[in-house]
Amino acid sequence: MLIKMDQIKNLKITTLVENLAFPKYLGQWGLSFLLELVDAQDKLRKIILDTGGNKKAFKHNVRALKVDISDVDSVVLSHGHWDHTAATVEVAKAAGGGLKIFAHPHTFLPRFFTDKRGKKRKMGVPKGERLDEIEMEGGKISLTSEPTEVAPGVWTTGQIKRITAFEHALPLAEGEKLSIFIDGMELDDQILDDQALWMNVENVGPVVITGCAHAGSINTLFQVQKLGRFKEIFGLAGGTHLVKRSDEYLWKTVGEFKKIGLKLISPCHCTGFKATSILWQTFPEAFVLNYSGRAIKPGERPKTVVF
Ligand SMILES: [Fe+2]
Ligand SMILES: [Fe+2]
Repeated sequence: MLIKMDQIKNLKITTLVENLAFPKYLGQWGLSFLLELVDAQDKLRKIILDTGGNKKAFKHNVRALKVDISDVDSVVLSHGHWDHTAATVEVAKAAGGGLKIFAHPHTFLPRFFTDKRGKKRKMGVPKGERLDEIEMEGGKISLTSEPTEVAPGVWTTGQIKRITAFEHALPLAEGEKLSIFIDGMELDDQILDDQALWMNVENVGPVVITGCAHAGSINTLFQVQKLGRFKEIFGLAGGTHLVKRSDEYLWKTVGEFKKIGLKLISPCHCTGFKATSILWQTFPEAFVLNYSGRAIKPGERPKTVVF
C-alpha cells in the first residue's frame, strides 16, 4: 500500500504520562501522548496516542497540564497492553460521545504472562476500559490491521512488517510464556497489534510516534518510509523497547537511526536508561529527553533537552 501523503501544518506533542515526570506531574509505567495539530485540510485536531497505565496519573497530569480533553477527536491505541490503555473510557467520557478509537483487531483480546510456576498475570486492556465499556461512553471503535488515516495527513502504520534480522521479542526465561486468546485459542503472543502514528509535517518532515515498538523501532520506521515513500524520517518519539537489549542490538539500532537521518530522537517508556544514554551521547543534536509534562514541537529545539 502506498499512501498519497498530504502534509499537516504543524504539530505539538505533549507527554501526558510516561515513566519519568517533571515535578508537579506524576510518572508511572505507561505511556500517553496528546497531539495537537493543524491537519492537511487546515482543521485543528487533538489526537491521543495511548492512554497510559494508571488512570489516576493520567487524570492528574491532564489537570496539571491544563489541557482540555473534551474536544479530542480520536484516540489511537498502539497495542493492547495494560500500560497503554488505562484511561480510554475517561477520554470518551470527557469527549461526551462521538470519540473515535482506532486499534488493531487484537487489541482488546485477553492476554497473559505466565511465570515459571504456571501463575498467570493479566497483560491486556484493564477491566473498566474494554471495548463495550468504551462504547457505553459513546466511543466509536474502528478495528483494523491496515494503515488508517485518522485525520487528514495523520496515519497509523497498521500492522508492522517485521523485516529486520536483529529485531525480535525479548527472550523469556524457561517456563515463561506470553499468550493471547484468539477465537478462544491460547496462542503465543507476538504482539502483532503493535502499531505507530505518523505524519509529514510541513517544513519539518515525517514524524513517527510509537507506543512500545514491540515490532522493533527500525521495522516501524521502515514501514513508514515505505508507506510514505520517504528517504529520511525527521523525528521519532515514544517507546522503543530497547530496555534489556544486548549491546549488539543497541548499536545496530543506532546504525539504522543514523541511516534514516533522524533529527529528533525523543525515546521514552520502554527504552531503558542504558539505551537512552547511548542515544543521548550518540545523537546530542537530535536527542530530547521525554517525561510526563514534556511538550515538543518538531522542528523547534526545546530550551532544555535534558534535566
Ligand atoms: Fe507493550
Ligand atoms: Fe509499554
